[in-house]
Amino acid sequence: MDVASTAAMLHTLQDPTGIPSHPLIFQVLMVFTWVPHILFVNISLGAALMGLYAFTKRHDPHWQKLSEAMTKVAKVGVSLLVVLGVAPLLFTQTIYDPQWYASNLLSASWVIGFIFTLTIGYLAWFTFYLKNHGDHAPGWIFWLGVFGLAMFFLDGFIMHVLAYQGLHPEKWVEWYTPDGHVDMSGNSVHAYELVRWGFFMAMSVTVFGAFLIAYGDYFKVRADRGPAYLAFARKLGSQIAFVGAVAQVVLLLGWMLDVPAALKIWTHPMSWLLLIYLGVLVAAFAVARGSDTQGQGYKLLTLSIGMAGLVAIFREVLRMAYMAPFNYSVLDYKVLWDVPSFVLFLLTIVGVGGLMGGFIITLVYKAGRVSGVYQADATVSRLGVGSVAATALWVAGFMAVGIWIWLSNNG
Ligand code: HEM
Repeated sequence: MDVASTAAMLHTLQDPTGIPSHPLIFQVLMVFTWVPHILFVNISLGAALMGLYAFTKRHDPHWQKLSEAMTKVAKVGVSLLVVLGVAPLLFTQTIYDPQWYASNLLSASWVIGFIFTLTIGYLAWFTFYLKNHGDHAPGWIFWLGVFGLAMFFLDGFIMHVLAYQGLHPEKWVEWYTPDGHVDMSGNSVHAYELVRWGFFMAMSVTVFGAFLIAYGDYFKVRADRGPAYLAFARKLGSQIAFVGAVAQVVLLLGWMLDVPAALKIWTHPMSWLLLIYLGVLVAAFAVARGSDTQGQGYKLLTLSIGMAGLVAIFREVLRMAYMAPFNYSVLDYKVLWDVPSFVLFLLTIVGVGGLMGGFIITLVYKAGRVSGVYQADATVSRLGVGSVAATALWVAGFMAVGIWIWLSNNG
């Protein structure tokens, strides 16, 4: 399809009712809400792989402990990555609705299959988690774990396909009508980019390695996690993270080479910033690898989170470059200001999300550092009361706005 027709198609597919506030707000939120999603993807995939590998060495007490711990990390991590995927999904489909929906329809069977494979994959992982206790855990559960992890990989790949197909609107009609016949089955995966996909997998290695070092630091106050075990975890983490960071540099170069030259991604400052940042990460993990990383876990994890932030911006820069030839800029999206719903939305993020999120994170952080029963201190209790009150207020406010609108429409 030629450029002018593709541009016209993209603009026609946009929601004619527009969006309720400035598109830049949605774009920024889309980029930054994706960061927690991908971090939990990275930690979960890494922890699941480590949980399985350590399981095969469970005759050694350190590996056995690590297998149990990482199996649990992946169990919690997957549930969080799913929840945290919702926010970027809402923003993507708001400002990039033509791209997201067209891509979803073109591979509809895979999108629906995503739900089922994620569900059975998670059930398999959960069963592996339930049975993975002690050095006498039955060997067959390993295959349940492998199946669960394979499903998570497949789901990540489906996510990648959906994101990537959306970048090629000039090919949609051709994919929709192969050989001149309409194909409404949605059975095909039409395009993928292995280097891009590989980059996110390598990122999982880096982030998981950094997470493991931080894990070694986090539990140092717990008597039931011996210092030798924690040092073992930290050492392993620093080796893993180094390998991941090097692989990321290689795959990023491969990814940039694969992007059409006309998009000029090599001259974009964001590409260089990411490359330099990854270089710093490689250096940091190279230094950490040779020394005792005790006390450096949080610093290295923060450095890795910073990398995820840059990757998120890079992805968006790339998407803007892919869309530019078709004159598609989210900043031109039609806006129909809806101030009350926007204010409610912001208050929800700050009030309910901030307070409740803050409460849960503080609670989990503090409770995890205590073996046995955890007794909440005054600050955590106040945060808890505050977040319940904010939620109650939010529900009351939500209902009040709804009733007010309903009454004014029927008055
Ligand atoms: C095991 C399950 C999952 C894995 C491994 C996974 C992994 C990934 C990866 C690797 C990407 C980047 C793809 C790319 O840019 O090429 C991505 C993007 C994304 N994921 Fe996930 N994901 C999973 C589940 C979910 C779920 C359940 C949701 C929603 C509730 C979600 C929402 C998103 C969104 C919105 C994007 C960005 C799409 C875009 O910008 O076009 N993911 N995911």
